[in-house]
Amino acid sequence: MLAIIGGTGLAEMEGLEIIRRHGAETPLGAASCGVIEGVLNGHEVLFLPRHGQPHKLPPHRVNYRANLWALKQAGASRIVGINAVGGIDPELVPGALVVPDQVIDYTIGRESTYFDGRFKPLAHIDFSWPYDAESRQTLLMAAQQAGEAMVDGGVYGCTQGPRLETAAEIARMARDGCSLVGMTGMPEAVLARELEIPYACLALVVNPAAGVVDTEITMAEIEAVLESGLERVKKVIRALLG
Ligand code: HPA
Repeated sequence: MLAIIGGTGLAEMEGLEIIRRHGAETPLGAASCGVIEGVLNGHEVLFLPRHGQPHKLPPHRVNYRANLWALKQAGASRIVGINAVGGIDPELVPGALVVPDQVIDYTIGRESTYFDGRFKPLAHIDFSWPYDAESRQTLLMAAQQAGEAMVDGGVYGCTQGPRLETAAEIARMARDGCSLVGMTGMPEAVLARELEIPYACLALVVNPAAGVVDTEITMAEIEAVLESGLERVKKVIRALLG
């Protein structure tokens, strides 16, 4: 069953007929909220708002381990994470939809593995290609069906937040090869891999990253892009289920 992890601005999936709500409790603590199981476009789907519903957990407080565990428990066989991001590559302008193919993790202090020698025995998993190739292709095809342009590939740099970055930090990330910056892509992607659930990210660019343009980043500009951009994201999700 496909599971959608909704990001900023996507705490509800309109049109979703709810069948049931799973409990939020897991052996790793509480998920952001109980996984919602429902029917969208005639297909069963699981939905989990990453930041809670309506409670707004900041990116560094999300219990990613519990979220992914809860999705597995609810029967997720593939996951698409929706993420609002800043564009580091100047071509990735606000409104662009991107399916990244790589990640650099700049977060600190997040519980980012099940194989920590406590919950599960220590293990070093392969993460050379962090996103599932087939899930990425399925997303790109769904976008084509929905008539939405989608950029194939990009490096998602995940920062700790909740503050936005400095211009120098973004310049360094650009030198590192990052094309996008967000705060929630990790450890979500690696935990899905540890649970062997195919995972892909659908990123919506909501602002030029710090210093990419001369102006400061405002929540007003982000919210304006989120509103129209998420409508297009939802179109792609409906096509994904069709
Ligand atoms: N930086 C980090 N996270 C973000 C941004 C950004 O510019 N925009 C949306 N999420």
